[in-house]
Amino acid sequence: MESLAPRYRPRGYLAALLPGNMGRMSVSSPMPPSDSRAWAAGRVAQAFERLTPLAARHTAAVKPRLERVLAAFAAERVGVQHFASVSGYGHGDQGREVLDRVVARVLQAEAAAVRLQFVSGTHAITAALFGVLRPGDRLLALTGRPYDTLEEVIGLRGRGQGSLAEFGVAYDELQLLPDGEVDWEGLGDALASPPRMVLIQRSCGYSWRRSLPVAEIGRLVERVKARQSDCVVFVDNCYGELVQDLEPPAVGADLIAGSLIKNLGGTIAPSGGYVAGRAALVEQACCRLTAPGIGSEGGSSFDLNRLLFQGMFLAPQMVAEALIGAELVAQVFSDLGFDVNPAPGGERSDGIQAVRLGTPERLTTICRAFQAASPIGSYLDPVPAPMPGYASELVMAGGTFIDGSTSEFSADAPLREPYVLYVQGGSHRAHIAIALERALSALAEAGLLPTD
Ligand SMILES: Cc1ncc(COP(=O)(O)O)c(C=O)c1O
Repeated sequence: MESLAPRYRPRGYLAALLPGNMGRMSVSSPMPPSDSRAWAAGRVAQAFERLTPLAARHTAAVKPRLERVLAAFAAERVGVQHFASVSGYGHGDQGREVLDRVVARVLQAEAAAVRLQFVSGTHAITAALFGVLRPGDRLLALTGRPYDTLEEVIGLRGRGQGSLAEFGVAYDELQLLPDGEVDWEGLGDALASPPRMVLIQRSCGYSWRRSLPVAEIGRLVERVKARQSDCVVFVDNCYGELVQDLEPPAVGADLIAGSLIKNLGGTIAPSGGYVAGRAALVEQACCRLTAPGIGSEGGSSFDLNRLLFQGMFLAPQMVAEALIGAELVAQVFSDLGFDVNPAPGGERSDGIQAVRLGTPERLTTICRAFQAASPIGSYLDPVPAPMPGYASELVMAGGTFIDGSTSEFSADAPLREPYVLYVQGGSHRAHIAIALERALSALAEAGLLPTD
């Protein structure tokens, strides 16, 4: 087998740093019979059956979200003429302009800029931060340490690359409480000296914490604005799009950013990212992406607009399918006695499912099985490897059509205690079931199932 070193950035490494994370594996898994694949298929089928009402709930949620997408397409009169784009500067690209307005409506924002020129979610977030913040400003993270690719952007790691710190932007963070909740009591003190911007991370990233429901983001916005009315509330919306009925701008967030190749790309957007929110702030982020004076008016879509519109149309369905997959992972592994976060049926504001596995052997065994069940690169053997910008070695299974999208069923993990696997994506539940069956059977065959 060829080895698959990590080729994309997974989602952080903080889980191992949080207290109270060590495995509690009081387990009641019957020993598998000799035919481990049949045993695994039975476990997955059983879990599926128990999830029927939950799966129905996720399926029902597609309709209102698709209604929103369709209403946006209709309001902006999307037609085939918008699939083409202007080359070169990209000035006056009608497809791009219509797509921006469609995405603004879908994300319940005043304005949005969807650009293939954004390399990733990290890049879009970076444009938002550098676009708005100025030397002497203070950035305050309200949900603990931001996702790890932002550490170098902020200036917490690395030197000489032009971080916010090197441009004179001060940074503070309000730690999450040991149980992963926002420190509401500490908020007042943290806001006493005025920050120019607060950063809220909606998704759990790599930490063993809840993803933040949009309603709770709304409560944070209220608290921030009551104390510091001029402060810009920025939300890292990666992995959160279309998971709940509301998006952060609907509850007062001023600016959000994320990747186009995750939820909003509907498995087919080939690249890109977005910023959305108040029009003036979106423009500032675009001025950082392109140049002051050009802002949102430049940037060709390389005749790829059809894929972006089509991905957006498919996105509510794909997100729901991935959420059903997350429930299935949660159910299967909690049935085996592993701690999972969130629990099956728990509130979800992102598409990430964490499973605390407790040993590196389990991590690699599961990643190998998932990779072997991937449509792309099934012949590759995921091995833990160092990754630029990350403190730990990482192991990942991500045989996706779009590199790094994690849109087809995938998983990744930092190789460190307590060996938490982060699972996401999944375009159809049959694929998720196949991958899970293979993983359970591999665990059984390797004698890695927990014992009482
Ligand atoms: C919470 C969070 N923020 C930011 C990012 C960075 O996104 P990207 O990998 O597109 O740069 C991720 C990626 O997994 C994430 O989970």
